[in-house]
Amino acid sequence: MAGNWKMFKTPAETKDFFAKFLPLVEKSGHADIAICPPFIDVPAAVEAAQGSRVGVGAQNCYWQNKEGAFTGEVTPAMLKAAGCTYVIIGHSERRQYFGETDETVLKRTKAALEARLIPIVCVGEMLAERESGRTNEVLSTQFNGGIAALSAEEFAKIVVAYEPVWAIGTGKVATPEIAEDAHKVLRGLAEAAFGKAAADAVRILYGGSVKPDNVTGLMAQPDIDGALVGGAALKAEDFAGVVNF
Ligand code: PGA
Repeated sequence: MAGNWKMFKTPAETKDFFAKFLPLVEKSGHADIAICPPFIDVPAAVEAAQGSRVGVGAQNCYWQNKEGAFTGEVTPAMLKAAGCTYVIIGHSERRQYFGETDETVLKRTKAALEARLIPIVCVGEMLAERESGRTNEVLSTQFNGGIAALSAEEFAKIVVAYEPVWAIGTGKVATPEIAEDAHKVLRGLAEAAFGKAAADAVRILYGGSVKPDNVTGLMAQPDIDGALVGGAALKAEDFAGVVNF
């Protein structure tokens, strides 16, 4: 269960969130839990999460670990050194607004793995693509371009997130059936690239307007292994409600 805070919260607000959130998930041993705040909040989150079951992640990383003259970028190795466990890669907002491509997703994923971070690699179709019946084709292009070129050993260490762009931040959650169909397609693509055992083992999260009141139906689907949560991860009670579905 991963929370993606996007561009929200200050370090002080991060501290407040953890003070409220940690007691609510103290006994939630059924799930791995991650909070992915903005870079600037990572130290506060790491400090607040110390000794708890909650891991901290970033929302993006550079595609090499070697330091260099790349203004505004952060290496996966730096994130690891700061205490991160996870990093979200290829979120649709990065693809839409910041020029992320399947090729850069693959490069960032490899660099994150090199630094021993767990990449949460996002894929998902836009509304127009779904409406024109191209969902499976888009998933296949994104999976084959951004993930399939990993080695089997690398693939075993990533988490995949299916996030239909039309369901992100819109309140329009995919029905459990629509989400399950896409997850099944992704698991099929994983099987074609890495074999059945690897496809069965990979965790595929659903993301897009997940809330405490719709998470149970999603989690009941056989191919949905968890959730990547935006808006509802900003409030401790809400995200705890999702985690403790
Ligand atoms: P949302 O965002 O839960 O606010 O729809 C999900 C995401 O973009 O990861």
